[in-house]
Amino acid sequence: MPEQNQDRIISAQEAKGDDGLDLTLRPRCLAEYIGQEKIKANMRIAVAAAAKRGEPLDHVLLYGAPGLGKTTLAHVIANELGANIRVTSGPAIEKGGDLAAILTNLAGGDILFIDEVHRLNRSIEEILYPAMEDYALDLIIGKGPSARTLRIDLPHFTIIGATTKASLLSAPLRDRFGLTYHLNFYEQPDIEKIVQRSAKILKAPLDEDAARQIAARSRRTPRVANRLLKRVRDYCEVHGQGQIRADLADQAFAMLEVDELGLDWIDRKILEIIIDKFNGGPVGLNTIAAAIGEDVATVEEVYEPFLLQTGFLDRSPRGRIVTDIAYRHLGRAGRPTKFF
Ligand code: ADE
Repeated sequence: MPEQNQDRIISAQEAKGDDGLDLTLRPRCLAEYIGQEKIKANMRIAVAAAAKRGEPLDHVLLYGAPGLGKTTLAHVIANELGANIRVTSGPAIEKGGDLAAILTNLAGGDILFIDEVHRLNRSIEEILYPAMEDYALDLIIGKGPSARTLRIDLPHFTIIGATTKASLLSAPLRDRFGLTYHLNFYEQPDIEKIVQRSAKILKAPLDEDAARQIAARSRRTPRVANRLLKRVRDYCEVHGQGQIRADLADQAFAMLEVDELGLDWIDRKILEIIIDKFNGGPVGLNTIAAAIGEDVATVEEVYEPFLLQTGFLDRSPRGRIVTDIAYRHLGRAGRPTKFF
């Protein structure tokens, strides 16, 4: 992750300072979890049915953009089931032995949360298949012609996998998750409720208008909303008496260079470069990346999704185009008309 992106206050990626904040603000049960109503309704049924049968929950795949609450939801499921949760991630499991050690230490009913499950390597995935399907671990003993497999029974556990890119998961792995939930970006009223709930936990008095302003800039992402709340709270502590007010929030956002729709200076720079240097596009991703001094993957994975989602940028076969909405948002005259 480039430094520049780590430092962005509106980045949906987890940042170093988020840990403590996330833990305090994280809802612990479904009743506390705001938004994602369809997922919660389905999850309530699945959890209640598993509990009634006395069986472990089916393996769960959670997918959605960063910052939408996949890890939180995994902990919520564990709490609802009264189960222990072990947390690991795709890149952390390097060798078969690492996974074998984790699996053999699980107890019946435990949950194993694998973040970034699309980053597991193939040989590890192959160990997971029988573990998920038959609760069995196939160990290969010895080498060459005398090698044998030894099957070890595992306790009945549940894997919760989280990924930002379900399409990168291999089909056999995807098929082994009985329950798949797609987390969507949150609606503005839900983000407002999340901001209000967080402010209460942080014991920071918050005006309704200020909650609305923070929510509007949060890119419909709770992680961003909570981070913005924290920064605005700091500002109000220094420049006011701690009460989070709309006028002070405005000043804080001006200082943070986050505009009323949640765009920061990098977002605006990207749009302005396309407008000023390339007549609003179409322009190829490689050219955009070179113009802002970033690599193509970062532009595609980090900056572009929000601009596409808000309709500021359009994809066309000949490249990216800045839309009329973006011209208006930046206070520019509309897209130049082309005469052929
Ligand atoms: N904090 C972060 N995400 C949340 C959510 N979905 N509900 C309540 N609080 C949250």
